[in-house]
Amino acid sequence: MKVRLKGDAICTLFLVVALGSLLYSQLEHLAPAGNKELTHKKPSVTQRIFSDPKAPGRPVPVEATVPRPQIIPMVRRAEVASNRVQTTTSPPLTDSTFNFKRYLLNKDNRNFNLLINQPKKCRKIPGGPFLLIAIKSVVEDFDRREIVRKTWGREGLVNGEQVQRVFLLGTPKNRTVLATWETLIHQESQTYRDILLWDFMDTFFNLTLKEIHFLKWAAEFCSNVKFIFKGDADVFVNVENIVDFLERHDPTEDLFVGDIIYNARPIRVQKSKYYIPETMYGLSIYPAYAGGGGFLLSSRTMRKLSRACKEVELFPIDDVFLGMCLQRINLKPILHEGFKTFGIVKPSAAPHLQTFDPCFYKDLMVVHSLKVAEIWLMWNLLHSPRLSCTQKKQVKKPFQWKKKVQTATQASPF
Ligand SMILES: *[C@@H]1O[C@H](CO)[C@@H](O)[C@H](O)[C@H]1NC(C)=O
Ligand SMILES: *[C@@H]1O[C@H](CO)[C@@H](O)[C@H](O)[C@H]1NC(C)=O
Repeated sequence: MKVRLKGDAICTLFLVVALGSLLYSQLEHLAPAGNKELTHKKPSVTQRIFSDPKAPGRPVPVEATVPRPQIIPMVRRAEVASNRVQTTTSPPLTDSTFNFKRYLLNKDNRNFNLLINQPKKCRKIPGGPFLLIAIKSVVEDFDRREIVRKTWGREGLVNGEQVQRVFLLGTPKNRTVLATWETLIHQESQTYRDILLWDFMDTFFNLTLKEIHFLKWAAEFCSNVKFIFKGDADVFVNVENIVDFLERHDPTEDLFVGDIIYNARPIRVQKSKYYIPETMYGLSIYPAYAGGGGFLLSSRTMRKLSRACKEVELFPIDDVFLGMCLQRINLKPILHEGFKTFGIVKPSAAPHLQTFDPCFYKDLMVVHSLKVAEIWLMWNLLHSPRLSCTQKKQVKKPFQWKKKVQTATQASPF
């Protein structure tokens, strides 16, 4: 009997090893040459957040070399900045030559005028909107705003709850588009009544200003809102799931939920876009903060953060800055599995799922780094009456499959 058991154990062990090496060779095969560094080890939290595929000297992101739509890269496309503020080909010169001295000198200059307001956005809704969707965008990204308006950013009723939308903009840093943008953005605002524009230059390092000004605006013009979702324009948001989740919470209590990053270390490498000298931040770890793809907060937390952020010194990384505000009000942000602000893990880790399968997105809340067409396609697939997912949607444990993915990921050489 004992011998038999031993034999079984050895057999199982053998199978596990065989399966592992099979998976490994598959992954090897999938990973394009030159990306070994990215794919071989799962990047640490800090590396993940701060990996910047567009920065010089960095490996090309997986996405660029792998044909779509089979694989969505695990490596998140660059942070907000390199996607939107810098346009396509030019290397991020302005960001890598970030002038800390000037930043520190200008740090107290943190109050800018609101050039375009939507004062009735929330007030016109009797009892206030259930959810305000606030999306960071840049003036130039008209197409992204259009697709968000037509898909997950729609205003109106979702599960019987009123949803409103605003886009958060600064003035374009590209001076050559200045001549025409002003007329265009005013026109857009007239048409959709969803533009908030402030008088600061819309750069990556000014996103903190956007954070502060949005919170100030929300406290002043949208105090009757119950919950807020704040996120990027290149994410896919399952608003139905978010509403469903929020309906089980009380807006008069504190709530801050997202893809929370714990114990991230400041980058001390000068070449990095996220380089923070010790003179600017002396501690060795950042407070817990939400990845920028998107997060949820209650009305109460919004008001508290609005006040708290006024008292926190400007910090050039907006996500971290908000983490500092949270720390100030002693609020622990909550990590939720439904927030995938680093994009989707490769399907090889979850072979039973196709990455672009809408069922894959059905139980998620936020998925980061989607192209305009992908957002449109996914939204339409998810809302197709013919959609039927064989996996039953589990109300109690909607993210159970993730466990399998994690196990597979750990076993794989990532
Ligand atoms: C600024 O915008 C103009 C017109 O769209 C474009 O041709 C130019 O390349 C842009 N410059 C930069 C630095 O992005
Ligand atoms: C932020 O915006 C202000 C006002 O437009 C501008 O003077 C400053 O250079 C910007 N800062 C960064 C870091 O881009």
